[in-house]
Amino acid sequence: MANPESLTPLSKDELQELAERAISAKEYAYCPYSNFRVGACVLLSTGAYHTGSNVEVAATPVGICAERCAIAPIVASIKRPDMPVMRALAVSTDIDPPASPCGMCRQFINEFATSRDLPIYMYGKDGLSGNVVKMTIGELLPMSFGPNDLKRNE
Ligand code: THU
Repeated sequence: MANPESLTPLSKDELQELAERAISAKEYAYCPYSNFRVGACVLLSTGAYHTGSNVEVAATPVGICAERCAIAPIVASIKRPDMPVMRALAVSTDIDPPASPCGMCRQFINEFATSRDLPIYMYGKDGLSGNVVKMTIGELLPMSFGPNDLKRNE
């Protein structure tokens, strides 16, 4: 894990870029069953942006949310000690007020967040010109179950 101190506040430009990418990622959503488009984007401490969108399949529980779609390839492509810090996550949907990450995604985000203060920005139907909700993973998932809880059993 990189130094958690690199969870520094985003500049205006970084937040704008993160939001725009999450909003555009919605265009790649494959959601013929729900017609509910979701886009997500993660900003890493390396400066890289990683997007994801929801991908559904006919066997409905098998689909994946946009947030996990964005995060899993990062984890799966970087060796553990070199894992960069997630500085922020943005999620975009077509509803207002904006949707928040589902419970399963909250656990997933929490697993790879180096701080409970990881900010999550939620954008709704009017994108950047509409309402934005900002909450931390700690606020979205109080009393989370994480890797440290497993260690407590050793
Ligand atoms: N969805 C997400 O992508 N992220 C969430 O946090 C909530 C739900 C997707 C899953 C499914 O493809 C569609 O939205 C409707 O539930």
